[in-house]
Amino acid sequence: MIKNKLNRNAKKVDKFIINFLRKQKNSLLTIPMKYGSISGGKKVRSTIIFDAGKLFNIREKKLINICAAVECIHSYSLIHDDLPCMDDDSIRRGKPSTHKKFGEATAVLAGNSLLTLAFEIISDKANLLSFKQKNEIVTLLANFSGHTGIAGGQALDLKFENKRKKIKDIIAMQRKKTGKLFNFCLRSTAIVANKNSRVQLSLGKLGEEIGLLFQLVDDFLDIKGSIKLVGKPIKKDKKKGKSTLINLIGYENSMKYAHNLEKKILLKLKKHGKKAVDLRETIKFIKQRDF
Ligand code: IPE
Ligand code: IPE
Ligand code: MG
Ligand code: MG
Ligand code: MG
Repeated sequence: MIKNKLNRNAKKVDKFIINFLRKQKNSLLTIPMKYGSISGGKKVRSTIIFDAGKLFNIREKKLINICAAVECIHSYSLIHDDLPCMDDDSIRRGKPSTHKKFGEATAVLAGNSLLTLAFEIISDKANLLSFKQKNEIVTLLANFSGHTGIAGGQALDLKFENKRKKIKDIIAMQRKKTGKLFNFCLRSTAIVANKNSRVQLSLGKLGEEIGLLFQLVDDFLDIKGSIKLVGKPIKKDKKKGKSTLINLIGYENSMKYAHNLEKKILLKLKKHGKKAVDLRETIKFIKQRDF
């Protein structure tokens, strides 16, 4: 069952992050950092990484640092996303957002610290990858998190509020704010498997499509989801004037778009046969999920 798989992976990654922080000195930010990253969240990106690892028979031990780093960056992006200067949301993962619990300054700093923690986790001596692999992964992760990735996408998301944008601009924004981290998830497994750059790029592209699908469904859940299940406020995108595909072409047409995207993604995985069973399962969950 997909839920069991997600829970199992969430436990592994949470445990890793707790142990990693335990080896560091405590600070005023340790608790807020844990609050914003551990116990909660589907850990769907980690699951995608483990699933993609199966395409190349990679053991989880070699991927756990990448999972933890991705979840730290993802959690940082959510802590900042909820701030009053951004989406101004008070609930995240079924509990008060980090800034509601600890104040804005602490939330900004805990977010920053989770971002930098990610790079410590990759470059850590205990990470089983080679120096060359770590170096490539650090570069890619920085690239996909900063102004050419998540942060750049978030800037566009805010700039597009209350504006009528074209489909291609909305999709480009969503690829950056959400797609790039999923691109990283798949591309990094190809790096770990020592695949050539052509394979790395094409797998990364596939990851980005999965990320786009993930964001489209997040936008559906904002309209049709249950607060209890998603653990965050709903019906906010319209109120905030967010430029989503739904606001532009309507719910039904956006569903069709997502459906075609899922089909395209699954088709591309065909060549991997049985090795892609888990990845396929997670992609189907991403499309159908209600949380
Ligand atoms: C929410 O991500 C933000 C988006 C990129 C759509 P998730 O839905 O993965 O959030 P958690 O980690 O499960 O809380
Ligand atoms: C957030 O998109 C994407 C990020 C990269 C943080 P949303 O603003 O739609 O995410 P939620 O709905 O607040 O989780
Ligand atoms: Mg947002
Ligand atoms: Mg938001
Ligand atoms: Mg949303």
